[in-house]
Amino acid sequence: MSNQATLVIIKPDGLKKSLTGNILTRLSETKLKIIAAKIVKVSKELAEKHYAHLKDKPFFLELIKYITGELHQDNRVMVLIYWGENAISKVKDIAGATNPEEAQPTTIRGAYGRILTSGLYENVIHASSSETEAEREIKLWFNPQEIVFPLYPVEKVTLNNVEMEVWK
Ligand code: PPS
Repeated sequence: MSNQATLVIIKPDGLKKSLTGNILTRLSETKLKIIAAKIVKVSKELAEKHYAHLKDKPFFLELIKYITGELHQDNRVMVLIYWGENAISKVKDIAGATNPEEAQPTTIRGAYGRILTSGLYENVIHASSSETEAEREIKLWFNPQEIVFPLYPVEKVTLNNVEMEVWK
């Protein structure tokens, strides 16, 4: 298996409950490399793009309120890219099942997640599900300059006389 990149989002409940340290410690068990990280204030537009494939689900509006911080009065998330061999499944294994009730208690979602009375999974963390999804999500959340090496092809553009790299 060759090296892969995967996107991790620590969701607003994770930040509000000061779980960031615990989650990063758990993820460090993978021995993967963090190649980008930042705190993001999530806009509705970014949230809707990230979850675009779910727009017809009954929980979509609530999901957008969750990731934009409206449910927790805290609009911060922490976004990271992990890199290394088999990164996608290694991170998914430690994150646990999407449904926190089905997640093993030793996983991040099993330990810290819950289901709201509305039925929404408040599951603390998002992790990319495939290489295609990882590439789509990474290009959505990060500019090429924010990553320690160019993961995907880039092109140079000039904006207001400043040359910069964008995803091709
Ligand atoms: S699917 O159906 O396979 O395309 O969906 P999936 O890729 O697993 O992502 C579903 C995301 O929606 C969040 N979510 C829920 N899913 C199912 N049922 C309920 N009730 C629900 N509530 C929220 C789920 O956590 C997935 O988001 P992430 O950010 O990946 O956890």
